[in-house]
Amino acid sequence: MFKKLAIGLVVGGVLAGFAHSQEVPFDFQKLFFIIALIGAIVFMLLDARPVGTMSGGKSAFAVTAFWVLLVTVCIAGASLLPQFDPADERAKIDKLLGKERAASQKGKAEELIARAKALDEQVKALEERLKGLGGGQAATASQAPSVGDKPSSTAGASGGGGGDFMKVGEEQWQLQECYNCHKLRGEGGKKRGPELDNIGSLLTVEEIQQKIADPKSFMAEGYEKEWQKGIMPNKFKDLMDPKEMQALAAWLGSFKNTSVNTPKPIKKN
Ligand code: HEC
Repeated sequence: MFKKLAIGLVVGGVLAGFAHSQEVPFDFQKLFFIIALIGAIVFMLLDARPVGTMSGGKSAFAVTAFWVLLVTVCIAGASLLPQFDPADERAKIDKLLGKERAASQKGKAEELIARAKALDEQVKALEERLKGLGGGQAATASQAPSVGDKPSSTAGASGGGGGDFMKVGEEQWQLQECYNCHKLRGEGGKKRGPELDNIGSLLTVEEIQQKIADPKSFMAEGYEKEWQKGIMPNKFKDLMDPKEMQALAAWLGSFKNTSVNTPKPIKKN
């Protein structure tokens, strides 16, 4: 009898061990072990002394009692094992999926916002192009008389068309702190870089843009050392988007005050 129990334990241990090596969940490892033990108990029962023959009410009672015992053992044993509860499982699934659902909803919202932004940008670009078509001539016309004969503080202040676009340019001048090195309209430091009030007479808007994007592309006459050292930072193309840089170049290009001695830019590469 003890031999059979020992065999049951060993078989159960082997089964559970194998299940463990296969990364079967721990509850199932327990289950396998218990099934092996039940098997052992069944074999042990086969060895049990046969019950004496019964008859009548006694036999009926014995069968009923055995049935109750069996059912009790089954229910008790089963209730020790992990139970499947649909509500439990659903809660687990919700927990797992909840995060992803929230993420995907957030993702959708973000996607919509991004799309709205892109559309907005397109509208703005179109508006600017329209303004460029209509306001462009107005801008040059209003600028023309101011060339040369006005004090630097008013020249090129872009009174005419271009409106928002020019404002973006001026804003970039402030944001990128170009004034730290360049004097313009009498303001800002010119310790490290040239005064720019006449840059519009010396470079086209495209060339100014090129200079901002790639400071090595032009060298201000008389500033060889500074050009060589790369004093003007080569970072603006990363800090501004192309439109902002274009606006800044266009705004600077409107400065054509010949009374200021902006050094001649020399094309380098
Ligand atoms: C740290 C100082 C510094 C900053 C900041 C700086 N620059 Fe310059 N810049 C220089 C120096 C020095 C030169 C002259 C040497 C050269 O050409 O590279 C120069 C030259 C220029 C020129 C050519 C001038 C000429 O007469 O040829 C332009 C145009 C210009 N800068 C525009 C800008 C703009 C626009 C910004 C802001 C986005 C800016 N710079 C920021 C130092 C600076």
